[in-house]
Formats: sequence, C-alpha cells, structure tokens
Amino acid sequence: MTTAPAPVPRHLAIIMDGNGRWAQQRHRPRLIGHRAGARAVKRCVEFCLQQGIEVLTLFAFSSENWNRPADEVGGLMKLFLGALEREVDELHRLGARLRFIGERDRFAPQILDRMQAAETLTAGNTRLQLVIAASYGGRQDIARAARTLAEDVAAGRLQADQINEATLGAQIALADLPAPDLFIRTGGELRISNFLLWQLAYAELWFTDALWPDVDAALLQQALDEYARRERRFGLTSAQVRHHANPGTPS
Ligand code: FPP
Repeated sequence: MTTAPAPVPRHLAIIMDGNGRWAQQRHRPRLIGHRAGARAVKRCVEFCLQQGIEVLTLFAFSSENWNRPADEVGGLMKLFLGALEREVDELHRLGARLRFIGERDRFAPQILDRMQAAETLTAGNTRLQLVIAASYGGRQDIARAARTLAEDVAAGRLQADQINEATLGAQIALADLPAPDLFIRTGGELRISNFLLWQLAYAELWFTDALWPDVDAALLQQALDEYARRERRFGLTSAQVRHHANPGTPS
C-alpha cells in the first residue's frame, strides 16, 4: 500500500515567546533567555532546511517591544547585531535568503546597514526564505499598505473602486511569498499579538506551553505532524475539499 507524503507547510510563521520566563526559572537575567532563544533560532532554521520548508518568518521584535526596560531593549539590539555579524555568512552558505519586515528606520544605523548588507548578499538564494519581523506590527503593515493605495488614488494612478483584496494585499509585507500555512506560538499564550494579521487569515494555528529556548526538532516535528492531520477547507465544505485536491482560492 502506498501512502501520500504528509504535506509539509510551505510557510511557517512563529512567535518565539517565553525567553524571559526561561531565564527567570533559572534565576538568571532575561537577556540570558534571549541568548538561549537565539540558539533555538538556529535549531529552527536547520529544521526548516531539513524539512524543505520554503519560508520561515520569525517574530523577533514587535513595535511594542521598544517599550520594554531600556537595558532589555539595548541587550536585544546587541544580540541582533551580534547575530547579524556572526550568522549571515553561514546562512548564505546554506542557501538562505534573509529579509526583514517592519519599521526598520527605528534601528540604529549600524544594525540597519547590517540588515541591508545581509539582504543584498543573500538576495539570490532560494533554498529557504528567512524573514525576520523586527519592529513589526500587523496593524502598521496594513495601515502602511492603505496609505500607499491612498497616495496612488490621490495621484490619479488608481481609482478608489479598484481597491480590493488583491490591490491591498499586493502592498502588504511578503505579498510575493506564499501565505503562512502554519503558525506556531510557544510560551503558552493563546494570542496572535499583532503578528502578520492579514497574512495569517487561513493559517493553521498551533500553540505550545514549551518556552522558546527549549524548542528543538522533536517539538517542531510535533507541530508538523498535527498540521499534516488537519483538513484545510479555505471556506469550502469537507466534501468539496475531498473532491478537489487543491481547494484553490480561499473564500
Ligand atoms: C519573547 O520572549 C521574545 C522576544 C521579545 C525576543 C525574541 C528574540 C530572540 C528569540 C533572540 C534572537 C532572535 C534572532 C532573530 C537573532 P519574552 O521575552 O516575551 O518572554 P516572556 O514572555 O517569558 O517574558
């Protein structure tokens, strides 16, 4: 008997929560948790490469995270800069393309330059698209897209009645990539927290109490196994989905 291979998500999007609690459990400063979180990022990237996942989007820093205590924000910035300095060449060698989404102007020039250099260096890679959401907020993303269309209308390049899901969607971050198939949030909270609001419309959601620094291939595999068991209906009935291998455009 032959069995069809279990579907692997093309695009995996993750909220990496629980670094602070991981550190607190060990009576260590929160930044130790973020450093352990960075090691979990590497394990996750390796897992995606092994599984043939095409896009991995990680929520590294939200627009709201700027309001955390200054020493934590400063420590995270140092961690990001260090990761950019140390990891980009290896990611390039592995065939990963790096992209950053979010309000990047809020970062210090040193970090901004590194982000741009990493994007330029890896622009031709196709094995894995690694998207880092940094100073990112889903509502800002949608508001920015709406502003772009409003400017187009004001300039006479677009008619107001041409604004629809397709024209707005084309301005939202990652419009050129497949939408996330699977969303994972670690750390036990059952929220989307302003992450990829538009793009997650039809994603399967998977939550775990595991703290991000404890994430390993076995846990990620659990999420993929559960994903493979889910029936994605895109607004159709179960019977319709069974008769059409590809249910097509979400409705
Ligand atoms: C949430 O945990 C995590 C963050 C705000 C930062 C995420 C950063 C990393 C995983 C480090 C490195 C990332 C890259 C891309 C190099 P939390 O601090 O809110 O945890 P808590 O809910 O337990 O307090």
